Amino acid sequence: MPIINRIAEFHADMTKWRRDMHAHPETAFEEIWTSDYINGRLEEIGVDTIERGIAKTGIVATIKGRGDSGRAIGLRADFDALDILEDTGAPHASTIPGKMHACGHDGHTSMLLGAAKYLAETRNFDGDVVLIFQPAEENEGGGRVMVEEGLFDRYPVDAVYGMHNRPGLEVGKMCMRAGPAMAGFDIFEITIHGYGGHAARPHTTVDPIVIQAQIVNALQTIASRTTDPLESVVVSITQVHGGDTWNVIPQKVVLRGTVRAFKTEIQDRTETAMLKLCTNVAAAFAATVDVRYERRYPPLINDENHIDLCADVARDLVGESNVDTNSAPVMGSEDFAFMLQEMPGAYVNLGNGVGENGGVFVHNPGYDFNDEALPVGASYWARLVETVLKRSA
Ligand code: NI
Repeated sequence: MPIINRIAEFHADMTKWRRDMHAHPETAFEEIWTSDYINGRLEEIGVDTIERGIAKTGIVATIKGRGDSGRAIGLRADFDALDILEDTGAPHASTIPGKMHACGHDGHTSMLLGAAKYLAETRNFDGDVVLIFQPAEENEGGGRVMVEEGLFDRYPVDAVYGMHNRPGLEVGKMCMRAGPAMAGFDIFEITIHGYGGHAARPHTTVDPIVIQAQIVNALQTIASRTTDPLESVVVSITQVHGGDTWNVIPQKVVLRGTVRAFKTEIQDRTETAMLKLCTNVAAAFAATVDVRYERRYPPLINDENHIDLCADVARDLVGESNVDTNSAPVMGSEDFAFMLQEMPGAYVNLGNGVGENGGVFVHNPGYDFNDEALPVGASYWARLVETVLKRSA
């Protein structure tokens, strides 16, 4: 079964919506224009309810099906942009210098609006569809804020689903995997407190420069000696700050960096190991440390049953050979993970194309969402609803 005919008729609408949003990129929790724009389209479409202001600019809308089984599912699209100066040369390019839809969230939102238009028109399902338009996916965890503000208390659903475009995968193909699919990400800051002094009299100091070198080396053993070789972890030190001049040993040095892992227990173990190594290495040299370790996004874990269900819907839509259910996990992170911590569900990837345009990876100034993928993604959403909330015969 190819894309839904009725949705194909919305292709021009979805393209216009997508390009309008692309021209007006806004970042974390400041998506005022975008939120108004989505609201305007939802009013035109004729959804049943619209609630604004969840996580500042977020919107939740519902569409009721025929019959009242009491079932409900959530479909989530993000709509924030990035702090990147666009370099696509596209006619619909960003009109806001330094901001850009470089991750395709404009496309995600347009596809969910297209699906909403079809579902509001046909209502060939039994139960409620909850449309979740989420701000601030990049860095600031808008998904977490929506959950904390009671998204699923106010809109109880049986499951929640997400989707992201994937450059390098042909349009009309989809990929996904059960279990850990995207890494959790943590940040850390290590402050080494020494005792400064004259560089020509090092024996009278506790030199934090020498100690930070030992700590940087010691931290490499978290991946190589603390973690099971069959597991994955990345510990990257990305900043070293210390010292101001040639002949002074400074009082302190600050290290910063990031940890990526697919399992919460690996994040826990890494945090413990980091604290122990830093404290003991510093103590060996008569220094002290402060370690600040902060969790940002948890790993994104797909429920196996829901991935199977999504894969069936995808196969039905684009054909068996165009669906990869064993795509490699990625070290990137995604705040939809917070929603999957609360509710069962699944997150899938949609081909954005290969070659000159579609193949440019996200977060690049030359990236643009591929409008050819719009009817595929919208059809996937619609079929997912009609499958999960199937009407009894
Ligand atoms: Ni993204």
